[in-house]
Amino acid sequence: MRAADIQSDITDILLTEDEILAKLEEIAAQVTADYEGKDLLLVGVLKGAVMVMADFSRALPFPVPIDWMAVSSYGAGTKSSGVVQIRKDLDTDIHDKHVLIVEDIIDSGLTLSWLLENFASRGAASVEVFALLRKPDAAKVVVDCRYVGFEIPSEFVIGYGLDYAEKYRNLRDIAVLAPHVYE
Ligand code: PRP
Repeated sequence: MRAADIQSDITDILLTEDEILAKLEEIAAQVTADYEGKDLLLVGVLKGAVMVMADFSRALPFPVPIDWMAVSSYGAGTKSSGVVQIRKDLDTDIHDKHVLIVEDIIDSGLTLSWLLENFASRGAASVEVFALLRKPDAAKVVVDCRYVGFEIPSEFVIGYGLDYAEKYRNLRDIAVLAPHVYE
């Protein structure tokens, strides 16, 4: 699905598919240099990171294992409570592995800050983060993120894995959702 297919649901195209893919190539080149000779494991956080993982992992010029976690925040009725529940754990033992967490977006930062601590306690050799998007204005905790694709304003963004009520993940671009859709 392209932005033109849902024109009335969006107010702006923030990033086109081409801009996203070009950025992934750039970050893949950095990761390739940084992890040379290291035992790298990519970990995606479901579901939002599926598209980023698919394109980013294929931009890497070497074989790399991929694992997934599904987590959900709960408590106080919002997703940004900072209390995280594991819905699907890793299949891989990350002891002594160099883990790169692949995320679609850092919003409050609470999910990632919990994940970083959790992975460190499992004895990973290193844990770093690649987030395609970061909303600096929304940060509640500072997350040490080694690779950031784009810093974006605190608007309701959808597409390229990001949803509103499970819809719009299959949009190729990243767009700002029109308020009439969610108000
Ligand atoms: C989104 C996103 C991150 C998290 C970021 O996931 O994929 O995992 O929120 O928010 P935070 O920085 O405020 O913690 P979400 O919980 O919406 O699930 P989804 O990936 O299945 O859409």
